[in-house]
Amino acid sequence: MRNLDPGLYTDPAVFAQERALIFLSSWQLIGPASRLSEPGDYVATEIARSKIVAIRGKDGVLRAFRNVCRHRGARLFEEGEGRCNVIRCQYHNWVYDLDGSLRQAPWFGEDADFNMEDWPLEPISIETWRGLVFVAIDPALPLEKQLGATVPELADEPIEEFRAVAERRMEFDANWKIYTDNFVEGYHIPGIHPGFFQAIEFEHFETTAHDNLVRMTAPPREGLFYKGKWLWMWPNWTLSLFDGGMNTSRINPVSEGRTELIYHFYFADTSDEKRAHREDTIARNLAVVEEDFGICIETHKNYATGGYRPGPLSPRHEQGVAWFQDKLARALGIL
Ligand code: FES
Ligand SMILES: [Fe+2]
Repeated sequence: MRNLDPGLYTDPAVFAQERALIFLSSWQLIGPASRLSEPGDYVATEIARSKIVAIRGKDGVLRAFRNVCRHRGARLFEEGEGRCNVIRCQYHNWVYDLDGSLRQAPWFGEDADFNMEDWPLEPISIETWRGLVFVAIDPALPLEKQLGATVPELADEPIEEFRAVAERRMEFDANWKIYTDNFVEGYHIPGIHPGFFQAIEFEHFETTAHDNLVRMTAPPREGLFYKGKWLWMWPNWTLSLFDGGMNTSRINPVSEGRTELIYHFYFADTSDEKRAHREDTIARNLAVVEEDFGICIETHKNYATGGYRPGPLSPRHEQGVAWFQDKLARALGIL
């Protein structure tokens, strides 16, 4: 087993291919359904630069659209979340209903060929699975098929009973696959996460690859906030279990050299008495996440400057890396 060609991590043409062949056609985790519970609730975000918005209609139906005005292509919603009564484009004041239909095009003028019903927002697919909302611009598979082995893996975890309490976004200068390669192995824990290393039985760290899932487990020692199970799902989301909660993240490519992480933190107990405990868990969790950025950034520089030729992958610890890289190469048509 060899690491991938570093050119695949730094070439803008490969990034364009990944957008077309992976990110447009896969289901993408947007976050907790609880953020979209009332009519008019929306979440606007990007999927590898494609702007989308998920919004609940006055009829209670959850829909998603390209976050793009049909007139001259302006962005409708700033990235983020909120609640609205109508969707108004700030560019020329076209107004859409929450179901995407065009309601007003003020000052447009007389045009016998212009019919408002011809210009609704462009819909995309949206599904809720166990309290998590996913959207897909042009899905190649049904959501459950993409989730694959994750469905049975989480069958006994009460994830829909956890309440989302916080979102955190982080960005760093490295290709999304460098961060993914790093996420799907525990081999780097002794070197990069010394505190985390002390808190698990590393000798019993196990990594296995399944249908669109890399599963990592290790027995936790006393005092670790993690429950000892970390999951990564093709193509770009993660779920890690705590005692009485979990986090999820989406690894969102911004460019070939920059990546955004969108984390959500969920807990079963959202009482005031437990607030400090939750905040401590989130802070300790984010500290572990941030420990990975430096090594990813410097590795990206070595890939970008031609200073690296692919090395061997560990059969003991880098099965997940091999699985991800194989799937990626197939998706890009180079295997
Ligand atoms: S681009 Fe939206 S109204 Fe013109
Ligand atoms: Fe790490």
